[in-house]
Amino acid sequence: MRTLKVAVIPGDGVGPEISEACQPVIEAAAAGADILLESTHLDWGGQRHLRLGAPMPEDGPSILRQFDAALFGAVGRPDVPDHQLIWGLIIRLRQELGLSVNLRPALTLPGVPGPLRGGATIDLLVVRENTEGEYAGAGGRLRSGHPGEVAVEVAIHSRSAISDAARFAFEAARRRRRRLHLVTKSNAMRFGYVLWDEVVAEVAADYPEVSWERVLVDAMAARVVQRPEELDVLLCSNLFGDILSDLTAALVGGLGMAPSANIRPGQRLGVFEPVHGSAPDIAGRGIANPSGYLLSAAMMFDHLEARAAGDQIRSALAHALEQPELRTPDLGGTATTTRLASAVLARVQAGEASRT
Ligand code: IPM
Ligand code: MG
Repeated sequence: MRTLKVAVIPGDGVGPEISEACQPVIEAAAAGADILLESTHLDWGGQRHLRLGAPMPEDGPSILRQFDAALFGAVGRPDVPDHQLIWGLIIRLRQELGLSVNLRPALTLPGVPGPLRGGATIDLLVVRENTEGEYAGAGGRLRSGHPGEVAVEVAIHSRSAISDAARFAFEAARRRRRRLHLVTKSNAMRFGYVLWDEVVAEVAADYPEVSWERVLVDAMAARVVQRPEELDVLLCSNLFGDILSDLTAALVGGLGMAPSANIRPGQRLGVFEPVHGSAPDIAGRGIANPSGYLLSAAMMFDHLEARAAGDQIRSALAHALEQPELRTPDLGGTATTTRLASAVLARVQAGEASRT
C-alpha cells in the first residue's frame, strides 16, 4: 500500500459542502487501488481573507509543495471583490507553482443530456495555457477617478509557455484521436498570437502523426456548437481556454459536470479543481452537483499514476447518473449533493464499477 498526501482546500460557496460529500468517495477509490490517502484540510479562501487579510498564508505555495496534490473546491464570496480573492489564491497558486497547463476534458455521459439537437457525443480536451496571456497581471490604472481614467492590461505570451502547452497538447492528441486545433486570434492581434502560430508549428513538426489546424477563436466558438464530434484536442491561450471550456462544459451538461487539472509537465504537484466556482446563489442548500469535483479527483489519481482509482470514480459516477433520480437540479433532477455522492460511494465500495 502506498500513501498519497493530498491537501484539501474546500474554499468558498458550494466548495465545502461538495468537498465534504465527496471525501468518502475519494478515500474509498484510493483504498480500492491500494492507496492510503492522507488528507490535510486547509481553511484557505474568503473566510480566511476576512479574518486575516489574505485567503492563504504568504508561504501558501511552499506549504503545498509538501503534498502530492491539492484538491480545490472554489473561491469567491459576494462580499469580497472577486479579483482580490482570486489573485490571492487560485491565480497565485497557478503562477507560483508554475502550473503552466490547465486540462479541461469535456465528455458526454450517457445519463446526462446536453443542449444540442440530435444529442451529439462529445469527447474533447481543452489544453489551456495557464499562467500568461491576459492573466499575466501586467498593467495598471492611471488618473484614478477622472473622466480620462485609463486602465492597461497587457497580455504576455512567452515562447517557453506556448511550447510547453503545445507539447503537452500534441502528446495528449497522440494518445487520443490524433487531431489538434490551435485556437488563436492572429488575424487581429499581430504579436502574441502570431508567436503562438509560429511556436506551435515548430512543435507540430515533432508530431507528424497528429493532424492539426489553426482556427480563429470566434470561428471555433461556432464550430464547437455546430460540429463538436470532429474535435479532439483544442490548444488554447489562457483567456480563450477559459471561455471555450465553459462552452464545452455547457455542451456536456453544464459547469457542474466539468473537471480540471492545473499541472506542470514533468512535475508531480498539481491542483485539481472543478470548473464551476463558488455558486453563491445555491451555496448552503446541499444541491450543488458534485460531479466536477469527483471527476477532478479522478484526474488527480490519473496524474499520480493511480489510474485504477480514477477509473473507479469515473465509472461509478457515470453509472449513477444514468438514474434520473440521482441527478442534481442543474441536470434536471431533484437529488441532493449527498444523495448523488453516496450513490457513487456505494458503487465504488461494491467494486461494481470495475466489474461492469
Ligand atoms: C476558471 C475560472 C478562473 C479563470 C477564475 C476564477 C479566475 O473562471 O478556472 O475557469 O478564469 O481561470
Ligand atoms: Mg472559467
